[in-house]
Amino acid sequence: MMLRTVVSTLTAISVSGVAAQSLPRQYTSPADDLSSRIETQNGISLQGVLNNIGPNGAKAPGASAGVIIASPSTEDPNYYFTWTRDAALTMKMLVDEFIHGNTGLRPVIQDYLKAQAILQTVSNPSGALYSGRGLGEPKFYSNETRFNGDWGRPQRDGPALRATALIAYARWLLSTTDSADYTEVAEEVWPVVQNDLNYVVQYWNETGFDLWEEVRGSSFFTTAVQHRALVEGIVLGDQLGHPTDAYTAQAPNILCFLQTFWNGQYAIANINSETPRTGIDANTVLTSIATFDPGAECDNELFQPCSAWALANLQVYVDSFRTRYSINSNATDGSAIATGRYASDVYYGGQAWYLTTFAVAEQLYDAIQQWNTIKTLTVSSTDLAFWQSIYPSAQLGTYSKGNGNGTFESLVNAALAYADGFTEVGLKYTPASGALSEQFSGDNGIQVSARDLTWSYASFVTLRGARLAATSDYEQVPSWGAPSGSTVPSTCESGSTVGQYVPATAAGAPAGAGGCTLIVTFNVNASTFFGENLYLWGNVSELGNWIPTDALAGSANGYTQDRPLWTFDVELPADSNVRYYYLRKEPDGSFLYETVDRMFTNLECAESVGPGSTTIEDVWVGPTGTPGKKMLF
Ligand code: NOJ
Ligand code: NOJ
Repeated sequence: MMLRTVVSTLTAISVSGVAAQSLPRQYTSPADDLSSRIETQNGISLQGVLNNIGPNGAKAPGASAGVIIASPSTEDPNYYFTWTRDAALTMKMLVDEFIHGNTGLRPVIQDYLKAQAILQTVSNPSGALYSGRGLGEPKFYSNETRFNGDWGRPQRDGPALRATALIAYARWLLSTTDSADYTEVAEEVWPVVQNDLNYVVQYWNETGFDLWEEVRGSSFFTTAVQHRALVEGIVLGDQLGHPTDAYTAQAPNILCFLQTFWNGQYAIANINSETPRTGIDANTVLTSIATFDPGAECDNELFQPCSAWALANLQVYVDSFRTRYSINSNATDGSAIATGRYASDVYYGGQAWYLTTFAVAEQLYDAIQQWNTIKTLTVSSTDLAFWQSIYPSAQLGTYSKGNGNGTFESLVNAALAYADGFTEVGLKYTPASGALSEQFSGDNGIQVSARDLTWSYASFVTLRGARLAATSDYEQVPSWGAPSGSTVPSTCESGSTVGQYVPATAAGAPAGAGGCTLIVTFNVNASTFFGENLYLWGNVSELGNWIPTDALAGSANGYTQDRPLWTFDVELPADSNVRYYYLRKEPDGSFLYETVDRMFTNLECAESVGPGSTTIEDVWVGPTGTPGKKMLF
C-alpha cells in the first residue's frame, strides 16, 4: 500500500505540474476540444508508463528498481521483460518531462541508470560486456537476469537509444551549478554512456535484427539512432574531458551509410537483408521523430521531420495502409488513417498500432515546429505529391512566414490539421479508460496483443509535447547537435574501432563483473526434423544452470542435407571449466536428453585470438525424436 502511494504522488506532480503550465497559447483552431482530450490522455499515459516501472509500479510486481517492463502481459504475448529499446525510448520521454519541471521523476531516472549499469554486465546469448557484444541483447527478465530463449538477436539500436536517453539527462546535470550533479554525470552517467558509444563505433557496420525483431540486416532506424548517439556523445565526452576520436571517426561513416537507404521515393527500412519486403515501414517514420532536432533545418541527409525526403516517405508509408484495414475505408486520400508496422505484417494479424499512428502525427508536429523556427517552407518536386494530397493547390516554391500572402500559413495549417487527424484516429480507438495496448484491430478497432504497452503510452506523451511545441512556444526537446553533424563524406567508408568495456560500478554495476570472456563455438551434428530444435545446457548461467527452460537455443543456419549442423556461440569466462550436453525440444514442448556428460575448459584470457578462435565439434549421442508425434495429441 505504501508503494502505491509513492507512484500516485509522482503522477499527481506530473499531471498538475506539467500540464497546467504549458497549455498551447497560439492555437485557436477547432481543436480546442482535442487539446483537452490530449491533456487527459497524457496524464493517463504518463501514469501508464510509471505503472510499468519497478520497484513500485502498480503493474510491474517483481521488477527490479528502474526496470521498465514492456507490458504487464505475461502470456499471449508474454511481454513481462525489459527491452533495451522500449525502455530507452520511454526513458528519453521521462527525462524530457523531468526537464520540463516534473521533478518527481528524478528518482525514476536514477533507478533506470542503475538498472542499466547492472544490465550492461549481465552476460547473455548475444555475448558479454568484455567484448561489448552483450550490449546488443534485446531483452532481459524483469529481475535483471539473462533470457536464453531463441530470439532475433543482436539488436543494435538499444545501446544507442540508451545513450541518447542518458545524454539528455547528462545535459541537464551539466546545466546546473550543483557540484553533486557534476559528480553524478562524470562518475555515474558517463561510464554507462561510454560503453554504449563504444559499442556503436565497434559494431555499427555489422548486421543485426531490426526494431521489429524480425529482419536480419541493416536497419534505417538503427543506423540513424546510432549516428545521433555518437554526435551528442562527442559533445558530452569533450565536455567531460574524455577521448572522443573514435566517435568522431565513425560518425561521418554512419551518416554516409544512412544515405544509401534512400531509393528516390522513400527510405528502405532494411537493407543487406534476405527478407523480401517492400521496405515501406514505420521504422522510417519512427526514425524521423527519434532523430528530430529542433535546431536543424529540413535536411534530407539527417531525415529531419520537415525534410522533403521524410515527407515523401511519410506519404508512401501512410498510403500503404489506406486499403489495409477496413476501419480506414471511409477515409479519402489525404485524410488521416490508422497505420501499423508495415503492410504485410502478420504479427497478431498485423493490426493497427497506436505508436505508429501517433508517430505520423508526431513527425508532422515536429516538422511544423521546424518550419516555424526557420520561418520558411519549401515545396520541392520530391514532396510536392505529399503537399498536394493534403493541400490540393500546393505549388512548387519557397514560402516565408508572415510575408502577407498566407501560403506558408495555409500549408502549415494543412499539415497541422492532417497531424491532428492521426491523433484523432488513435484516440477514437482508445477506450474510455485511456488504456493503450500494442495494437487495435483493423476490422473493428478492438484492442489486440499486449495490454498497457509502455511504448504506446510513451508515444502519446511525446506526441503531446510535440503538438505543444508546434502550436506554442513550448520547447519540447533541445537540439542534439544535428546542425554540426550533417556533413556527409563524399565517399562512404566502413569502419570499426575496437573499444574497451568497463562495468559502471559507481552507477551500480556489481563489483567484479565484466571479467575476461572468450567466444566459444559449439558445433553439433544432430539430424532433426522440422519443428524439432536443439538446445545446449550446462552448469553455468550462460548455459542455463541445468534448468531446461533456460537452456540456450541453437541456430540451424548452417544446417544442410550433407551436414546436420546446429551451432551455439557462447561467451564464457576465460579459464573456466564447463560441464554441458545437448537436448532436443520436441514440437510438443517435451525434451529429449543426450546420454553423455561433456566437459570443456576455456582458454586463458591471454590465449584469446578473437571470435571463432575456439570451436568444439560434437555429434549427438542419445534418443532422437519422431516426426509427426505432435499429431497424436
Ligand atoms: C514476431 C513479432 O513480429 C516481433 O515483433 C516480436 O517481437 C516477436 N515475434 C516475438 O514475439
Ligand atoms: C514487439 C515489437 O515489434 C518490438 O519493437 C518491441 O520491442 C517488443 N514487441 C516489446 O514491446
